[in-house]
Amino acid sequence: MSAIIEVKNLRKSYGSSVAVDGISFEVRAGECFGLLGPNGAGKTTTIRMIYGFTPRDSGTLQIFGTECDSAWRSIKSKIGVCQQEDNLDPDLSVRENLETFAAYFNIPSNMLSDRVTSLLQFTALETREGANVKELSGGLKRRLVLARALLNEPQLLILDEPTSGLDPQSRHQLWSRLEDLKQRGLTTLLTTHYMDEAQRLCDRLIIMDQSRILVEGTPLDLINSYVGKSVIEIVAPCADLHVMLKENEISFEDLGQRLIVYCNDGETLYRELLNDHCHDGCMLRPATLEDVFLRLTGRELRE
Ligand SMILES: Nc1ncnc2c1ncn2[C@@H]1O[C@H](COP(=O)(O)OP(=O)(O)OP(=O)(O)O)[C@@H](O)[C@H]1O
Ligand SMILES: [Mg+2]
Repeated sequence: MSAIIEVKNLRKSYGSSVAVDGISFEVRAGECFGLLGPNGAGKTTTIRMIYGFTPRDSGTLQIFGTECDSAWRSIKSKIGVCQQEDNLDPDLSVRENLETFAAYFNIPSNMLSDRVTSLLQFTALETREGANVKELSGGLKRRLVLARALLNEPQLLILDEPTSGLDPQSRHQLWSRLEDLKQRGLTTLLTTHYMDEAQRLCDRLIIMDQSRILVEGTPLDLINSYVGKSVIEIVAPCADLHVMLKENEISFEDLGQRLIVYCNDGETLYRELLNDHCHDGCMLRPATLEDVFLRLTGRELRE
């Protein structure tokens, strides 16, 4: 599969502080590629360099097979962007926001109204088209930002935390819209702090921390490599449990009142723990991308 984005040794500093420290990755045609990492990891800075908003200090960047510095104009015309902040015009209506933004692209005026109408339908905003943006809830604003990013019928969609702050209904609605777009062959670069979202939407992803890439892979490969198939969570663990796990070389994390055990053969170990080592509660569950994320980036707050 050909690369839609190819990033090599991308670097960016703000004064003496390094925001992105020599990262390289490729996004292939038609895939949804995730950029994950704790607050301040460098995701937004990376994304902004990719859509030409923030100049990079060094490194090379090719989009659609073309070196970006020589062809920004034509590259940008094929990219749709949802920034982390909602930068809608608060004084305009929903429809006016789309029509005004469309002026950046040479959309023929006889096509504009139909395109706006179909995007309002696609994002379930058609009944709110006359509403002022100031009156919209956070979820409606995010939907409008997505509609706006699709105005130029992009070949690459860049989404910086598209579902932050949304209720479960709005998140699921947006996920299904993104899945529709993927079916149509759109390539997507996505950042998110919701690991269930990344696990559901991303074909491949990277986890960044402190300006660098820690790992890259499919969600399933990362789960299998860094956690295993199952996780057992034990509330108020008995003192002898640590000893037993260490003796059997089973990996675990001690969070004080809770012990997290990582394993492949979860059922057998779960029964053993339940019988002999747990008084207050023991839960067996499939390992998730969130387990991978926390194992690799730790549990300390970043910012
Ligand atoms: N314009 C700027 N001026 C100075 N420092 C900046 C600027 N933009 C980002 N930074 C710093 O660069 C680092 C990376 O920030 P960035 O916004 O890329 O992180 P992020 O991974 O998107 O975080 P979050 O998950 O909180 O959105 C942070 O330490 C941030 O404070
Ligand atoms: Mg960010």
